[in-house]
Amino acid sequence: MPITLPKLPYPMNALEPSISAHTLQEHHGRHHKTYVEKTNALLADTGMADWPLEEIVKATRNGGAKTALYNNAAQAWNHDFYWKSLLPRGGGMPKGKLADAIAAAFGDLDKFAAAFKDSAVNHFGSGWTWLVLDHGKLMIVSTKDADTPIAFDQTPLITLDTWEHAYYLDYQHRRDAYVTAFLDKLANWEFAQQNFERATDRKAAAE
Ligand code: FE2
Repeated sequence: MPITLPKLPYPMNALEPSISAHTLQEHHGRHHKTYVEKTNALLADTGMADWPLEEIVKATRNGGAKTALYNNAAQAWNHDFYWKSLLPRGGGMPKGKLADAIAAAFGDLDKFAAAFKDSAVNHFGSGWTWLVLDHGKLMIVSTKDADTPIAFDQTPLITLDTWEHAYYLDYQHRRDAYVTAFLDKLANWEFAQQNFERATDRKAAAE
């Protein structure tokens, strides 16, 4: 089965005014679509054509001849995760067990939001900012270009795409305004909470 472009989980205009329909049309319909198409083209003759996307990413992370496949497969995976990390009328603060864990790891929720913003705004060049679980520890990490936590044995909970194509049409160079819109109006904390509970349940079952 070739890798397919997943549908957006909301209409193109559902994130306005924080992210315009124009941005989503370009970002999902051109950038994400191209990563999927290139992944499928590069999978030819690798023996991995029927593998799940996540396994392709993990198997190709070590560079060398598979670097182009890794970059495109990781970007295909990252974008699917990013669309799920956004929610119309989202944003604000996480709740429940995830909120408790964030407060324990970062001091309080405001300090967490400030640290996430700092990491996303100041990450140099193209990449992604994530809240991850790293062997049970909550961490904010920014990855470069296509790099993805799933290639480094970390469990992502939520992500923000900080490539310019994610915000330039709406915010030009003002990445800080885009990051603020994500934290205040778009972040899908319910998705992050589900990822957190799945990961912590899995860890508890393994102990
Ligand atoms: Fe992107």
